[in-house]
Amino acid sequence: MIILAIESSCDETAAALLKDRNQILSSVVASQIPVHVPYGGVVPELASREHVDNIGYVVAQCFSQAEQNGSPVGWGDLGAIAATRGPGLIGALMVGLVYAKSAAFALRIPFLGVNHLEGHIASIFLEHPAAELPALSLVVSGGHTSLYYLVKWHSYEQLARTRDDAAGEAFDKLAKYLGLGYPGGPIVERLAAGGNAKAVRFPLPRFTDRSLDFSFSGIKTSAIRYAETNRLTPQNPGNSGQGTPPQPVLDLLASYQASIVDQLLIRTESALQGREVKSIHISGGVSCNGELRRRASEYFARFGLPVYFPHPALTTDNAAMIAAAAYIRAEAGEADPWDLPADPNLAVTSRG
Ligand code: KG4
Ligand code: ZN
Repeated sequence: MIILAIESSCDETAAALLKDRNQILSSVVASQIPVHVPYGGVVPELASREHVDNIGYVVAQCFSQAEQNGSPVGWGDLGAIAATRGPGLIGALMVGLVYAKSAAFALRIPFLGVNHLEGHIASIFLEHPAAELPALSLVVSGGHTSLYYLVKWHSYEQLARTRDDAAGEAFDKLAKYLGLGYPGGPIVERLAAGGNAKAVRFPLPRFTDRSLDFSFSGIKTSAIRYAETNRLTPQNPGNSGQGTPPQPVLDLLASYQASIVDQLLIRTESALQGREVKSIHISGGVSCNGELRRRASEYFARFGLPVYFPHPALTTDNAAMIAAAAYIRAEAGEADPWDLPADPNLAVTSRG
């Protein structure tokens, strides 16, 4: 079966064609980053308008890319159409959802609404179809940092979530504060490579209730305080302008990145206790981070556990992962009702 999937939950308009569970025929992502750069973050109303402008073109590109890849597909070849229905920005979600429903209705084929986070979780299986289950599945993105116990497809137990900022948000906010640009994650990763990760110490957050939850706003605030105290802000003439920032900024970024990675690894390790786990999965935009990839693989090798990541191109938002999450349901002949609403706060829930 071939399915078309659409993703429009935040600042990427994306479409993909997927065949037989993990064969990506095409995947097109139109990033809106340049539109949001002047604001240092995503502006919801601008995002919705960009999706409206882009979606027709992105879907057309998706069909022509499949043809260029040697797998021509027409609308008539589709078995189902899927779209992200939440969580995300309500206006942005509605663009993709309405597009997908209309096309599926016109073609008289099933429509499926997908949870964006299930998309990130499923992105692992595009690259590693035989990833062993049960697994601990860590989703680390700009909007979410959550840990799930994945027993089988579509069967999840949420073990932890962030109580404040998401890990990607923590990267983005410090980079914005230091005037380094947006999105912060890739910029911090590049600059951190030139810094000393042991230069600044950030404490691991602890909760009195021994929960596995994450928290990143404490380290974000201490990093900002450290930057203020040590005059590392862009307002200080020595730090402004083009080129590589001074060494103390690089050291701060390297230490900050290391402390975010530490927290992700330590919390995930705690979740191993009392559970049967055969592999660790790490997905979402932050899973592109080379330091996280390297250290996670080393860390869990001690426990004899393989660590799986999506292909780097499929870590940030894309529609191939939405198609992957929808595939099993589509294959089983399931369809969602035409009045399925977009849900900005949609939680990940198990089926069956
Ligand atoms: O999954 P995603 O595209 O969107 C959400 O669902 O939120 O993730 C975007 C986030 C941003 O916060 C971005 O800074 C972060 O992923 N990110 C990274 C890297 N690449 C993207 N964070 C750390 N290192 C990276 N290389
Ligand atoms: Zn995402």
